Amino acid sequence: MSTAKKDYKKITTKSLIDMKAQGEKISMLTAYDFTMAKIVDSAGIDVILVGDSASNVMAGHETTLPITLDQMIYHASSVVRGADRALVVVDLPFGSYQSDPKEALRSAIRIMKESGGHAVKLEGGKEIKESIKKILNAGIPVMGHLGLTPQSIYKFGTYTVRAKEEQEALKLIEDAKLLEKLGCFSLVLEKIPAKLAQQIAESISIPVIGIGAGSGVDGQVLVIHDMLGMNNEFSPRFLRRYMNLYEGMTSAISQYVDDVKSKDFPNEKEQY
Ligand code: KIV
Repeated sequence: MSTAKKDYKKITTKSLIDMKAQGEKISMLTAYDFTMAKIVDSAGIDVILVGDSASNVMAGHETTLPITLDQMIYHASSVVRGADRALVVVDLPFGSYQSDPKEALRSAIRIMKESGGHAVKLEGGKEIKESIKKILNAGIPVMGHLGLTPQSIYKFGTYTVRAKEEQEALKLIEDAKLLEKLGCFSLVLEKIPAKLAQQIAESISIPVIGIGAGSGVDGQVLVIHDMLGMNNEFSPRFLRRYMNLYEGMTSAISQYVDDVKSKDFPNEKEQY
């Protein structure tokens, strides 16, 4: 399909809906700090996700569960300072929205007020319907997240592909339609069969952004550390590595260590 790329000065939730209507794919990447956000933004990304994957790639936890609302706000405010054009979406972390809709709203308000982010993302469908409604009623844009929802890892037990069975696929379709009906501006589908993802993207009007969900959706998202090859231990099938920064950085740093040890650095021109 030919895609005329419109020159959006600033990406809004409406721009994403327009992109879907015009067949322009949406690009989204995570970022968790100012410098990375500045690079990602100037490279022309549409959406920066301050993902709770910060719990894994920034803090070294095994899951996304330990990261707190305060920590998410810290990451998000750093990203917002680095982003001029991209829409900044911030994950509501585990424990900040599941217990009751009022707490969900309080958490979302804190993110918007204290970080300056433009929207929040929540994992789940029907179970968190009331929380989504409450947040939307306060004027806060919501991005949904269905399929593999890492905050429920202890319920699933593994990070394998979701919704391969008919019953789970049907629930996923119902949840996607519900999120659209509630007024979510977009939806992430993680690690589900490509055919099912395409079917969902074609059956709802809001943009569907996939990760491990094939090419039939309206956009793609990856974790920046994964696509830059900063972590050479994580290589799921859906991941395309655009660099091998792990090797590049390790060799630059070991060169620096050698230069310091051998007294090659600093040389005469590198001092006052
Ligand atoms: O936290 C995150 O990075 C995410 C993406 C995987 C979509 O939610």
